[in-house]
Amino acid sequence: MAQDEWSAVDAYIVGKLLSQDPVFEAALERNRAAGLPPIDVSPAQGKLLHLLARLVGARNILEIGTLGGYSTLWFARALPLDGRIVTLEFSPIHAAVALENIQAAGEGAKVDLRVGPALDTLPLLEQDGVPFDLVFIDADKRNNPDYLRWALRLARVGALIVIDNVVRGGRVLDPASDDPDIIGTRRFFEIAGEEKRWSATAIQTVGAKGWDGFALAIVEQN
Ligand code: SAH
Ligand code: DHB
Ligand code: MG
Repeated sequence: MAQDEWSAVDAYIVGKLLSQDPVFEAALERNRAAGLPPIDVSPAQGKLLHLLARLVGARNILEIGTLGGYSTLWFARALPLDGRIVTLEFSPIHAAVALENIQAAGEGAKVDLRVGPALDTLPLLEQDGVPFDLVFIDADKRNNPDYLRWALRLARVGALIVIDNVVRGGRVLDPASDDPDIIGTRRFFEIAGEEKRWSATAIQTVGAKGWDGFALAIVEQN
């Protein structure tokens, strides 16, 4: 019951506030046709990420977890022409679909997609030397403690860090969970609360994707 109402309200919000955009619809359709799991951010969440990127004036964005590039496209649309988003994806199949979506959207020049386990590709970014203005963490939740450490290393002071899926239908409360993703999320909260170099909060969300939440943090020092 609750889920039906959350989805209906999400549809209402999207109908009122998001203009229909064939680029995003085509991306979701290509993902579906390719059999990708439908775990992209929702349209309303994608627009939130887009607005946050504009709010911080982001020119350099790092995304961990590309899937079919749906969230990548929302970020790319927020960047200036010479801005860029580096997006990291483990699966060559997901990455191939994402590349098609990015090309079809005409955003190829802004997107730097790197294939491989993020813990292997993140260290290479340090050599690039360009600090990120916004980091979006949305890959395998078990590695979130490590992704947070990398975000702090790679982001500038004042950067925004956003972490998806930190509530997971309330399962984050279960200290006895043997799910590595819940263990990783709970460890993330431990670290986030003790870390003095950023200031963080988390917001629960309901909608088309159920009950979940985002954590958000600003880098104070790195
Ligand atoms: N941000 C996307 C959704 C990402 S889903 C969107 O909203 O549109 C999570 C993605 O992380 C999946 O494509 C998965 O293959 C990828 N992933 C899982 N483990 C990973 C790892 N170790 N390194 C990089 N990507 C990983
Ligand atoms: C899953 C992953 C996500 O990033 C998400 O937003 C929703 C679900 C998952 O792995 O189940
Ligand atoms: Mg997610």
